[in-house]
Amino acid sequence: MFKSAEEKPVDFLPRHVAIIMDGNGRWAKERGLPRTEGHRVGAESVQEVIEGAVELGIEYMTLYAFSSENWKRPEREINALMKLLIRFLKDKEKELLDQNIKLQAIGRLHRLSEKCLKQLHRTIEATSHCTGTTLILALSYGAREEIVDGIKSIVHHVQEGHIDPAMIDEDIVSKHLYTRYYPDPDILVRTSGEMRISNFLLWQISYSELIVVDKNWPDFRKEDLLLAVKEFGRRNRRYGGI
Ligand code: FPP
Repeated sequence: MFKSAEEKPVDFLPRHVAIIMDGNGRWAKERGLPRTEGHRVGAESVQEVIEGAVELGIEYMTLYAFSSENWKRPEREINALMKLLIRFLKDKEKELLDQNIKLQAIGRLHRLSEKCLKQLHRTIEATSHCTGTTLILALSYGAREEIVDGIKSIVHHVQEGHIDPAMIDEDIVSKHLYTRYYPDPDILVRTSGEMRISNFLLWQISYSELIVVDKNWPDFRKEDLLLAVKEFGRRNRRYGGI
């Protein structure tokens, strides 16, 4: 649909797009397939959407790939998701490099399996010099956990005498979250029509435009990202002003 960054089909680009990729299970169920098949096709959507972000020239894209609550799923499904992630990271490393994509990850990453963590660090390291789109995978991520970890970090700095408690403000809180290196998302997209935030980036989405798409994630493709970006262009952000 859009072929290169030079042919940008939108005038007003979001810097940061965050996506709750929901509906893989329902997509599979509707077709009489196992849930893992929904995740497999969902990984193809991930690939397409990354390409779309690069073509549009989006600076940051955060994908909610595995939540802290997802650990409650059956072991079989968790293992299938981890396998998919490892394969994705391995297979796509060259494409990420070719597209100048810098990979990053947020979440309680130490909970991931050793194999998964090793591959993740490998790909993050391999793409660390890239200067194009930053792709942030939220893995074993929960926003409340992130806030708890941020509070602990601030308390530690106070105890060490590096932060004066009277000086704690929004900026200091932001700097102690996993997302400290990135701007807040301009858009939060959620697929599958559900009107929920599901413990994703609670602090960071204070002023994000919410875009809920009725399609399940495996059906969400490049054109859908473009539609979301166009919708953002039509919204009038007032940040509480008039
Ligand atoms: C939500 O659908 C989706 C997930 C829990 C996992 C998302 C994972 C992928 C898209 C594939 C792998 C990711 C990468 C980065 C390669 P759901 O299972 O909750 O769907 P349901 O609500 O219909 O059951």
